[in-house]
Amino acid sequence: MGIEDILMHDETVFKNLNAFDPDYVPPNYNFRDTQMEAMALSIRPAMSGAQPSNAVVLGSPATGKTTAVKKIFELVEKNTEKVVCVYINCQIHTTRFGILSQINKKIFGYVPPDTGVPFSRVYDKIMSHLQKEGKSLVLALDDVNFLFQSNFANKFFYDILRAYEEYPGVKTSIFAILSELEFRYEFDKNVKSVFIPHDIVFPLYSLSEIESILKDRANAGFYRGVIDDDILEQIAVYTFDYGDLRTGINILKTCGNFAEADASRKITQKHFDKTIESLAPINISQILESLSDKEMTLLRLIVDYGGNVSSGDLSKDFKKTTEASYSTFLRIIKKLEFLKLIDAEYTGSGSVGNSRNITLRFDPDKFQL
Ligand SMILES: Nc1ncnc2c1ncn2[C@@H]1O[C@H](COP(=O)(O)OP(=O)(O)OP(=O)(O)O)[C@@H](O)[C@H]1O
Ligand SMILES: [Mg+2]
Repeated sequence: MGIEDILMHDETVFKNLNAFDPDYVPPNYNFRDTQMEAMALSIRPAMSGAQPSNAVVLGSPATGKTTAVKKIFELVEKNTEKVVCVYINCQIHTTRFGILSQINKKIFGYVPPDTGVPFSRVYDKIMSHLQKEGKSLVLALDDVNFLFQSNFANKFFYDILRAYEEYPGVKTSIFAILSELEFRYEFDKNVKSVFIPHDIVFPLYSLSEIESILKDRANAGFYRGVIDDDILEQIAVYTFDYGDLRTGINILKTCGNFAEADASRKITQKHFDKTIESLAPINISQILESLSDKEMTLLRLIVDYGGNVSSGDLSKDFKKTTEASYSTFLRIIKKLEFLKLIDAEYTGSGSVGNSRNITLRFDPDKFQL
């Protein structure tokens, strides 16, 4: 298609392009019940006027931390007016005044002018309001590590968490959200005595969880029939092996774009391959390091055959060496093929015509196997 055709083409595979946006909040949010419960338990006391707890929300990128906090805040606000939930992205709001302004906006509906109004005046207005109305404040500081790049983090935690000293009866708590697990923060002792958080950990998603989430997202974003399960499965495996959930969502969207550029109503293998090619090239040693012992064993057997062997011979050797089942063998072949470490062409021979010729796709002498 020409450029103008691309721009004007009004047929689309996308039912809802926003479903692939970074800030899209999915209606279906699974596999995070434990973490959502822990957050609910932290906030629950505030619903009846007691002190909410503090929490540190921890986990690798794209494990659903931001989404979970936004969802729980939405639920809290739907059910009570007693708790003011404020979500702050610390990459965007980087000063004490900036964060306080966002709290002001949430409560009073506007951002105070950033010149001429002192911090203390805005602070007093917020805390007096909470005190008078008997409301609690739960403040989520997302990507809180950004706050620690400046030197006001301690001061700010102190401002929020010790508000009750000046405004008796005011209840405040902080959810500190972090994606770098190696990040270490050091509070001074005044803050430590009031910020005693419990950890809410977001583990990595498993392959089947990734596949299910991506399937939901594809259903939300594409028209029915645009993407088949086998392509979705390949996207899930790729995502699990090399990236995080965001990579997977991005691949879905890019596949859709390639399909549209082809005026195709369906995402085909070609669109998926093109998408993967368009991603940053992956280093073979990195892939090799990520393989399990059995996967490495199978790869070494192929190398022992000089990089070219029939699937029948290979499966027998593999069974002898590892005692693994034939289905394990097939699964590993599929994975190595997908990782582009081998080719596995059908030869049409064998008792049921399913024999394959396995060839290595890289030079084994250049890598440590
Ligand atoms: N359980 C889930 N179900 C559906 N979508 C999910 C789920 N978990 C994460 N996502 C999606 O994955 C993407 C990343 O999620 P989110 O932004 O919540 O992760 P995060 O843990 O805050 O990541 P980071 O540490 O990088 O900030 C978003 O598009 C989100 O909608
Ligand atoms: Mg986040």
